[in-house]
Amino acid sequence: MRVLLTGGAGYIGTHTLVELYAAGHDAVVVDDLSNAQRSAIDRTSSITGRPIAFYESDVRDTARLREIFAAEHPEAVIHLAGLKAVGESVAEPLRYYDTNINATLSLLTVMAEAGVFKLVFSSSATVYGTPETLPLTEDSRVGEGITNPYGWTKFMIEQILRDTAQADARWNVAILRYFNPVGAHGSGLIGEDPNGIPNNLMPIVAQVAAGSRDHVSVFGDDYDTADGTGVRDYIHVMDLAEGHVTVLSHLVPGVATYNLGTGQGTSVLQLIKAYGQACGHPIPYQVAPRRPGDLAATYCSPAKAAQDLGWIARRTVEDACRDSWRWQSGAASNGSRQD
Ligand code: NAD
Ligand code: WQD
Repeated sequence: MRVLLTGGAGYIGTHTLVELYAAGHDAVVVDDLSNAQRSAIDRTSSITGRPIAFYESDVRDTARLREIFAAEHPEAVIHLAGLKAVGESVAEPLRYYDTNINATLSLLTVMAEAGVFKLVFSSSATVYGTPETLPLTEDSRVGEGITNPYGWTKFMIEQILRDTAQADARWNVAILRYFNPVGAHGSGLIGEDPNGIPNNLMPIVAQVAAGSRDHVSVFGDDYDTADGTGVRDYIHVMDLAEGHVTVLSHLVPGVATYNLGTGQGTSVLQLIKAYGQACGHPIPYQVAPRRPGDLAATYCSPAKAAQDLGWIARRTVEDACRDSWRWQSGAASNGSRQD
């Protein structure tokens, strides 16, 4: 299939490109580079061994998107473009609602005009808000306890997709609720490259491992978890990438929703320890107050994806730490991430 990826120059997009090409698909990327570098596409291309068609464009620019569809004739779309920093979304809600919602409306409009009705959407475990029970299944309650505009954009976009598919039976939509994506491609050529201070745990741990930050602040050690620190379902980005490719060949009329996670919970201290083993020295940390809005624990049941798609996460947190470290240490020493 010829697949158009919005946001394809970003963290999850570049890894998904590698798996799409490995599975024999062809891809076109539309990304405004607001949180990515042009060189990420070149580095991805050096892994796939194939050129990747790239358009620097905002998905909200509907006229330009129409031209891209007319020129490239995609058969399916993976919609990853959007803003994702939780704290920033609290400070700048209108920018988040504008970007995430309007990009989706623009995309759906152009897809329908072009007769392209296959869509995979990057949603998030954040739509579950505060879990009633664990593990989270796709039928678990959503919406209650979402604490930030970023999370609400995902919740709202899911509803927009359901309404759109309800109104026109030609739509084949998959909503993928990612848990906590971590790690990097095994080549060390692509990985997570956050602008400024990272929002998420693993890139912070990686920077401490590399010496560019002194210690990890562990946000709370008095949760009701085995060691008192927060528990999450960390999924290797290459497993996530494989999930996208698998779902593309299982799209069916209507909307199907899948959790993409491992089903295993890992605590902050367990992750810090695993990273220390991967990089060969312990990671300094200090216990700090809880972060407002954080959950004690969240992890999914990945059973539906296993049953319907035959997809299962195969890599461990240790694999993710090793691959993250290869990317982080390579970037520091050889400047592979510089444009
Ligand atoms: P990322 O920031 O690395 O990638 C997003 C890409 O979208 C970036 O390359 C950015 O330049 C681009 N973009 C942003 N706004 C755009 C616009 N208006 N037009 C065109 N391009 C635009 O983030 P990621 O981690 O790869 O996330 C991809 C998707 O997955 C996002 O929708 C995110 O919300 C979702 N998601 C991410 C996580 C996570 O923890 N990484 C978890 C759950 C869901
Ligand atoms: C993981 C654990 C922290 C940083 C966020 C978004 C969610 C999704 C993934 C996109 C928690 C602890 C963290 C640090 C720490 N993104 N931590 N010190 O909060 O599960 O989810 O990213 O959809 O929407 O909310 O991920 O990586 O921020 O935190 O102790 O410096 O690490 O308290 O227990 P989170 P995270």
